[in-house]
Amino acid sequence: MKNLIIIVLSLAICGLSSCSQGQKSSNNETTKTTTDTSKPKTEKPKTDPLAAGKRTYNTYCLTCHGQNGNMGASGAHDLTKTALSFAETVTVITEGRGLMTPHKFLGKEKINAVAKYIETFKVN
Ligand code: HEC
Repeated sequence: MKNLIIIVLSLAICGLSSCSQGQKSSNNETTKTTTDTSKPKTEKPKTDPLAAGKRTYNTYCLTCHGQNGNMGASGAHDLTKTALSFAETVTVITEGRGLMTPHKFLGKEKINAVAKYIETFKVN
């Protein structure tokens, strides 16, 4: 009788801690880690400020300034011809100007990165 109880209990515990599920998920993890090998490649640009700036630009600025900075939607100034200094650019991005909305929410680091990135649009 005691043996039966022990067997039933251990089965219940196994069911509660989902032994079989645990095995399944660990199997999934092994398949995940094999696909994860491509990740470090895509993560590398994160350390590159220009790539980070590009991501920010593509998310928040592209709609008005366009892929190359010269689209000019809703009167957006042509970033390839801007005469602004780096500091002035940062100020415009942070505080906005005219129809351009402020982007203070991005934080200093992202604003600096995106300001560096849009400098690459400039044609001198
Ligand atoms: C809603 C559309 C819009 C978005 C989004 C936008 N801009 Fe602008 N941007 C403008 C407009 C309009 C102007 C012109 C402002 C004015 O009339 O003085 C401008 C001007 C600028 C200028 C000044 C250029 C110059 O030479 O005077 C810079 C730099 C700039 N934007 C960068 C950015 C960056 C970087 C982002 C993304 C973080 C961004 N903008 C997002 C519309 C936008």
